[in-house]
Amino acid sequence: MSKKKSSKKKVVPLKPPTKVLKSRTLARKITTKFHKLTSRKEAEKDPKRIRELEEEIEEMGGRDAYQKASQLNTSIFSTSKWVWGKLSHTGRNFGVPSPPSPSPLASARPSKRPLKILEIGAINTQLLTYTSKGNCDTLSIDLNSQSPQIQEANFLSPTFNPVQQDVIVCSMVLNCVPNARLRGEMINKINGLLPVGGEVFVVLPLLCLAQSQFINRKSYENIWIKLGYELKEIRVTPKLHMIWGVKRREGDGEGWKEGKGKVGGKNTFGIQFENSTSNNK
Ligand SMILES: C[S@@+](CC[C@H](N)C(=O)[O-])C[C@H]1O[C@@H](n2cnc3c(N)ncnc32)[C@H](O)[C@@H]1O
Repeated sequence: MSKKKSSKKKVVPLKPPTKVLKSRTLARKITTKFHKLTSRKEAEKDPKRIRELEEEIEEMGGRDAYQKASQLNTSIFSTSKWVWGKLSHTGRNFGVPSPPSPSPLASARPSKRPLKILEIGAINTQLLTYTSKGNCDTLSIDLNSQSPQIQEANFLSPTFNPVQQDVIVCSMVLNCVPNARLRGEMINKINGLLPVGGEVFVVLPLLCLAQSQFINRKSYENIWIKLGYELKEIRVTPKLHMIWGVKRREGDGEGWKEGKGKVGGKNTFGIQFENSTSNNK
């Protein structure tokens, strides 16, 4: 018996569907390889070798592939939810008191201004969505923006000069910065943008601190303490290290030492400040 031909026409999608990365193992492999190649490229002097490394990065899908893989990796833990929880707890998510007006005609009731939040390395708009429920003025930036709501900017660029912030969120970004000196610069710039009373949320893969040849958990946490932060929460999961710090004084990092890394450690993650000595360049 011959089959009846279906009268329905096949619907052909106008655009090819975008490939959705589903495997976490593959996503982790992509981000690890991307970090390795970009760090090597940063340290390389030979132009021919730099070109080869750039080609290798392109072959693996470039920054776009990295960004998609990061989206999957970071969906395991929502930093935005954690940050929103902490800000809700203190009530700061509904604004901070404005300085009293010198005018005798001003209302006696203290007014509030929006809480200024800067998110560095925003792979998604989760934090923007949470903070839109409160009285917040949130600026999310990324080197390679994946949404019109995220401003494309390099936090480390001298031309990126935002106003002072109340809160800075830097989740899984320090580990993407290609060398120890630039990581130190990132931390210094974050600190410079926060007044006393400002809050910082920093998340790192635990492996950066547990398996580094150059730094350990305690010496990393000490950076923030020496800069004048009270570490309100240090949360460690099998994969992540999270800090919620509140700036209590203007520290200058004086006396901070890189500390001892792990003998035979598997990675070279380190943090270096202009005046600190380090084996890790
Ligand atoms: C692993 S993703 C982290 C995403 C997100 N913050 C999270 O925790 O889910 C790191 C992001 O930081 C961005 N990034 C790295 N260095 C940066 C810089 N100097 N300025 C702005 N964004 C940066 C990368 O483009 C990438 O999107």
